[in-house]
Amino acid sequence: MKVLVVGGGGREHALCWKLKRSLSVSEVVCAPGNPGIARDARCAPVAAEDIEGLVQLARDEMPRLVVVGPEAPLVMGLADRLRAEGFPVYGPSRAAAELEGNKAFAKALMAEAGVPTARFETHTDADAAESCIRKWGAPIVVKAAGLAAGKGVIVAHDVETAVSAARDMLAGNTFGSAGHKVVIEEFLEGEEASCLFIVSGDTIIPLASSQDHKALLDGDRGPNTGGMGAYSPAPCVTPAIEEEVLERIAHPTIAALRARGIDFVGTLYAGIMLTEHGPKTLEFNVRFGDPECQPLMTRLRSDLGELLLAAAEGRLAGKELEWDTRAALCVVVASHGYPGAFEKGQVIKGLEQVEAAGTIVFHAGTAEHDGQLVNAGGRVLGVTALGDSVRDAQQTVYQALRRLDWPGAYYRKDIGHRAIEREA
Ligand code: AMP
Ligand code: GLY
Repeated sequence: MKVLVVGGGGREHALCWKLKRSLSVSEVVCAPGNPGIARDARCAPVAAEDIEGLVQLARDEMPRLVVVGPEAPLVMGLADRLRAEGFPVYGPSRAAAELEGNKAFAKALMAEAGVPTARFETHTDADAAESCIRKWGAPIVVKAAGLAAGKGVIVAHDVETAVSAARDMLAGNTFGSAGHKVVIEEFLEGEEASCLFIVSGDTIIPLASSQDHKALLDGDRGPNTGGMGAYSPAPCVTPAIEEEVLERIAHPTIAALRARGIDFVGTLYAGIMLTEHGPKTLEFNVRFGDPECQPLMTRLRSDLGELLLAAAEGRLAGKELEWDTRAALCVVVASHGYPGAFEKGQVIKGLEQVEAAGTIVFHAGTAEHDGQLVNAGGRVLGVTALGDSVRDAQQTVYQALRRLDWPGAYYRKDIGHRAIEREA
C-alpha cells in the first residue's frame, strides 16, 4: 500500500524509515519531509500545517493510509478533514487532540476520570494565579495551557520566578495566545518515563517503555527543550508499573473521552512521573514522542504499516507487538544556541562515517543548500543505535559522533545516564 506521512522532523523520519521496511508498504510519501526522509520516502513540498494543501495532496496521491506525525495539524483538525474525504487516518480528531492542545481540558478530564495527576488550578487572571502560587509555595509548576512546542512549562524553585512566569504567560508575552490560560501545578518528584499506546476505539496496545531527556544540559539541568535524547526500554518502568499506567491512566482517559462522545484513534502518549505514591500523569500528547519515536521504531519488529492501518480502520483488537530485545538510544544533535537563537545554514558533514560506525542518523532540522547539507532548525539530527544494554547503545552513539564534522553542533554527553546507573 501507499502511505502518506505528514511532518518533517526526526519522529517522521523514524516513521518513514520503519514504514519503508514494512512488508505491507510499497510506497511512502512524506509532506514536507526533509533531506534524510528523502532516502526513505518521496517528499512532497506541502507544510505540515497547510491543512488545505494536505487534503489536496491526499486527493492527488490517493494513499491507502495517512499517518499524522506532529500535534499542530491534529489540533487544527487535519484528521477530521481527511476522514471526511474517506481516507483511513492514523491520528486523532481535533476534539481528541485537545488532550494535548489544551492542558486545562486534559487536567479537567483527568480529575473527572480519577486519573492520578498533580493537584492543579487553572487561571486566566494574573492576580488569582499569583495568589494561588503564594498560597501553595515553591517548588511549583506553571504551564501555558495551549501548544508551545514543549517549552511552555516553567518548573519554579522560588515563588517570585513562578509569579513572573505566570504573569508573562497571561499577558501573552511568552507564548502568545497559548499562555492566555495557565495551569498551576503541584511539583512532583521522581523519575520520569514516557508510556505510549496505540489506541483505536476501546483497544489500547502499549508500546515499549521509553524515557527522554527534556533538559538542555548534562545532569538534566538547564532549560526545557523539545527533547535532547531518548532510549528504550526504560528500566524504571517495571511490568507492574506498565500495568498500572495502562489500567489507571490510559484506559480511564480513553473511556472518559468516549463518555463525551470523542473517539480516539492514534498514539496516546502519557508523560509519567514515578512518585513514591505511584505513577502520576504529567501530560498527555496525542502523537509519538520526538525523540522517543526514534529508539522505539528502531526496536519495533512488527509491520508498522499493518498496525497503523488496523488502528485507523478500527481492527486493532488482538494485535500484538514484537520488539527487538536489545536497547536503543538516540542522541539529539542540536544547533548551538538552541532552544534560544541559533545560526542556520552551517554545513554538516561526516554523516556517512557516523552511520558506518553502527548508527542510524534520523534527520530533523536539516536542509539542502547548493548541494550541501545544512542545519535549518533547533534539533537537527537524532543519532540512534541498538545495543545489548543501554550502555552499549550509548557507547556506539557517542563513538560514532566523534566522526561528525559540524563545528556548530551541540549535544548532551550523558543521554541514558539513569538507565545506565540502574544497569550498573
Ligand atoms: P510537560 O510538557 O507538561 O510534560 O512538562 C515538561 C516537563 O516539565 C516535564 O517533562 C517535567 O520534567 C516537568 N514537569 C511538568 N509538570 C511537572 C510537575 N507537576 N512536577 C514536576 N515537574 C514537572
Ligand atoms: N519528547 C517529548 C515530546 O515528544 O513531547
